[in-house]
Amino acid sequence: MWRPLFLLAPLLNLACANDPYPSPDDVPKPWLPTAKYRSAAIVGPPIEVVSDSIECRDGQYTFLSLRGDDTVAHGPTIVDQDGELVWTTTFSDLPTYNLDINTYKGQDYLTFWAGDDKVDGHGDGSIYMLDSSYNEVYKLKGPHGLSADLHEFQITRNDTALFTVYDVVQADFKSVGGPSQGWIWDGRFVEVDVETNDVLFEWRASEHINFTEVTQSRDHAGESYETAWDFFHINGVDKDAKGNFLVTALHADYLVYVDGRTGDVIWRLGGKRSNFKDLSSGDASTFAWPHHARFRDEDTAITLFDNASPKHPRNRGIYLDVDQSKMSVKIRHAYPAIERHMVVPQSQAQSQGSIQILDSGNVLLSYGLNGPAWTEYKGSVALCHAVFGPEAHFGSGNPASYRVSKHAWKGHPSTTPDFEISGYEAAVSWNGATEVAMWVLEGSDVALPDPNNDQSYYSSSVDEEHTNDTDGDNDDSPDTTTAFMLISKTPKSTFETIIQIPPGVEFSFLRIRALDASGLVLGTTSTLPFDPSDPPPTPDDPDDKPKSTSSSSLFLAGVAATLSLLILLYLFRRCCLGFCLRRRWQYQYLLRRGRDDDDDDDDDDYWGNGYGTEEQEVGLHHMSDTESDDSDEVQVSVLENPRLSPMLARSPSGLSTFSFGSGLRSPSPGAERAKQQ
Ligand SMILES: *[C@@H]1O[C@H](CO)[C@@H](O)[C@H](O)[C@H]1NC(C)=O
Ligand SMILES: *[C@@H]1O[C@H](CO)[C@@H](O)[C@H](O)[C@H]1NC(C)=O
Ligand SMILES: *[C@@H]1O[C@H](CO)[C@@H](O)[C@H](O)[C@H]1NC(C)=O
Repeated sequence: MWRPLFLLAPLLNLACANDPYPSPDDVPKPWLPTAKYRSAAIVGPPIEVVSDSIECRDGQYTFLSLRGDDTVAHGPTIVDQDGELVWTTTFSDLPTYNLDINTYKGQDYLTFWAGDDKVDGHGDGSIYMLDSSYNEVYKLKGPHGLSADLHEFQITRNDTALFTVYDVVQADFKSVGGPSQGWIWDGRFVEVDVETNDVLFEWRASEHINFTEVTQSRDHAGESYETAWDFFHINGVDKDAKGNFLVTALHADYLVYVDGRTGDVIWRLGGKRSNFKDLSSGDASTFAWPHHARFRDEDTAITLFDNASPKHPRNRGIYLDVDQSKMSVKIRHAYPAIERHMVVPQSQAQSQGSIQILDSGNVLLSYGLNGPAWTEYKGSVALCHAVFGPEAHFGSGNPASYRVSKHAWKGHPSTTPDFEISGYEAAVSWNGATEVAMWVLEGSDVALPDPNNDQSYYSSSVDEEHTNDTDGDNDDSPDTTTAFMLISKTPKSTFETIIQIPPGVEFSFLRIRALDASGLVLGTTSTLPFDPSDPPPTPDDPDDKPKSTSSSSLFLAGVAATLSLLILLYLFRRCCLGFCLRRRWQYQYLLRRGRDDDDDDDDDDYWGNGYGTEEQEVGLHHMSDTESDDSDEVQVSVLENPRLSPMLARSPSGLSTFSFGSGLRSPSPGAERAKQQ
């Protein structure tokens, strides 16, 4: 009986006009789907959880710094284990790097760099430390009026701030066959007092590093100020219990261990003149373009992200046992990047990335410019994997996150929750609030002389309620001070929760309160007028979707008028179940095309099969990725759709494995190393 409606499919698609994942045909390329919300003008990141496991579900959050020329969602971003947005900000539209959690004086701070990232592969900006209410508490700059570089920031065990700095100075290039009056970008790091920004220790590579140690060839760089040679490219620094520093040098392919008093180099690991005996037949010290080196296990081990070792054509994280008394190093674990996401064009530079040992013992890898993705390993098994950009863009840095980290976090925003009413639906969200368990919808009849002239009513009501609920009336009892009555309670679902306002509600004003798991009121939205005389629309009345374009709405109103009964029935069946018609239609259509070319004129089956079966097939198809030969680009994009994630996440085995086998491609040794960071 549904068959005639197939002809209406293109029209009915408009009913899902706020679908955040437009079809590949009607968006400009590149296709970077994002999530949009009714209650807040925030763009959520396009994350697809490709593989999930209960063993990654430690209640922690993932921290990203999204950027990329075509990326709509950008800025520091926190997501949960489902890839669902928790907090984001565009932060004055400045590019941000290195979002992380650092503990300073016993308090967790959200830390990141923001500034100009187009300065010859490093950054000209500041480091920000936000408290758990997302308020800026500290802003750190480099010494002597210099800006902070984007590559590294951490709070040391001594509650000092450690970060990288660059500046241009003159240098003598005679040892590498150049002029005696050349110019370099010097690689520096500073340790500063967080409260005063006073410099406690500073180090510059040019005072301690011989140019002949550098693996990056100079060509003609450095012959003028404008073409200063970035000979060292510091991109990481860590401090050990002895007070010495571990410096990562991209352009020397090594780590140097620096005396915390004199600045002298104590040893080099990797590069041209490694001081270590390699007990792994060279595998432990032949990394190239290292990133994010950190001491581990009371300074007896080091982890780093190896961008392109000649012996390992793909990126990998490595965990090294480092014996500083015997001066020997060996590989404890290597975490090879997942193949299908790491194959980048040969001419493409590879840079950035991170490795973190999580509290659970699992290991988190991210791939920087190489791939908008992260992977959580248990042992050598890649348990969980998520992507935040289209596969076609892997290797392009668009989008990218310099590093990715995972931490516990409690956010208590100082804002009030965002709230919108359209028809008989209320949308509520609270950017950054991690502790909300329940949304309580309340109504009031308090008649105001003129709501437009009496804003004080709203603001005083909000102020009053935004503190602790001291009289304990945080649940079913009416709030006597403002005459608000309980209407309904709805568990918080995703970033934004849509609450159906029950038919028959007669209140003139509505608000929503946020409760934590113990029932404490965390915050209250502003109070919005509600017009109960509007007839309760069906949940999928197109006019009810605020983000529809006005032309779509008008058009749909017309369509609805002529076809109302049929369409409403149809939409209820298709859209309300959480899947847009168009999506499903495309999945099924493309799947059918992909595997059954002979039969693709037969429409009947489009509507015949249950969702579960079809999506399981999509999932398997997606993860095995073997049928791409006869599938076109559209199919790839559709199959990347993040809405499939929950299905994939709940695959029966609960655990997916990845192929590390065939298809390796070696980056050519002389590959152009552009875009280095
Ligand atoms: C830094 O912290 C470590 C460990 O708490 C301590 O042993 C050391 O003395 C501290 N160093 C300085 C310079 O405060
Ligand atoms: C730098 O290293 C080269 C090669 O080992 C050596 O000849 C030169 O003396 C060194 N320069 C300095 C300043 O130590
Ligand atoms: C809210 O209540 C908690 C727990 O009772 C208390 O620790 C906190 O200080 C209170 N905050 C305010 C703003 O009163």
